Amino acid sequence: LAQLNTLAQKAGKLYFGTATDNPELSNTAYVAQLGNTSDFHQITAANSMKWDATEPSRGTFTFSGGDAIVAQAQAHKQLIRGHNCSRHIAVPLLDITKGRLSWDVINEPFNDDGTFRDSVFFTTTGTAYISTALRAARAADPAAKLYINDFNIEGTGAKSTAMANLVKQLKAENVPIDGIGVQTHLIVGQVPSTFQQNLQNFANLGVEVAITELDIRMTLPATTALLTQQMKDYQTVIAACKAVSGCVGVTLWDWTDKFSWVPGTFAGQGAACPWDENFVKKPAYQGIVNGWN
Ligand code: G3I
Repeated sequence: LAQLNTLAQKAGKLYFGTATDNPELSNTAYVAQLGNTSDFHQITAANSMKWDATEPSRGTFTFSGGDAIVAQAQAHKQLIRGHNCSRHIAVPLLDITKGRLSWDVINEPFNDDGTFRDSVFFTTTGTAYISTALRAARAADPAAKLYINDFNIEGTGAKSTAMANLVKQLKAENVPIDGIGVQTHLIVGQVPSTFQQNLQNFANLGVEVAITELDIRMTLPATTALLTQQMKDYQTVIAACKAVSGCVGVTLWDWTDKFSWVPGTFAGQGAACPWDENFVKKPAYQGIVNGWN
């Protein structure tokens, strides 16, 4: 039976995976599929390793949410993507998972026009926080792959150019940087025509590339025509990763529409995942299969 991780690994990739979140882990049917390692060999915590989760008030740390995700992954020997670092590197998690880990050390540093985002880090330190965080992460776990992760860098353009220039500069300054995470939150019918070229451009910088948060949303209701186009779009994305040897793996931003972030953020949109709200595979699943084949 053709399944998503099996096919990804056959295509020479390290993993196919998915994001998940702690409240979902109380759903037995959901957890059963999350642990299906023929589909998923990698897990990202959608929220529980973020700064607001690990230090909900200043000086008060809690890693229990992230630890639960790590335990879920370890029970099935799945890889972990740490998402995402900030001022405080989550050292307890790093200790547990040494050598089986990638981290989104820097998340969403850019505005869409390629200028730096006015985060608290940027307004306080300029770009210094980027090299500081990367060096701290390297020191905390020399084996972890360290990434910069962003959205709207799927096609060529100002934001992708800014990302490439940042990575070039970091490498020139010997700052540790191992990969570029291309989030890939797309809209049905709108996969950028330069997607594969852009992945290749990033890989040509001498770093890994990963598709870190894939989903492809539509305006509801989900018609047959939209679901068919979505299947093609998933296939296009996966085929691009397959074709670019530096693209090491793909992660869904959750696998089921039941727990997708999309409807909560974009009113009237959704159905972005390869499984529907009842955990039934959509045509998009076959699109991923086709993309790997
Ligand atoms: O858990 C509380 C719940 O108790 C409360 O009633 C409810 C009311 O607002 O909020 C719930 O928390 C929400 C949480 O998701 C869990 O669902 C937060 O408000 C909401 O802000 C949070 O959104 C997350 C978002 O990042 C912001 O951190 C999404 O789940 C998560 O999917 C999304 O993920 C991001 C990546 O980190 C970076 N790339 C883009 C991606 C999508 O925005």
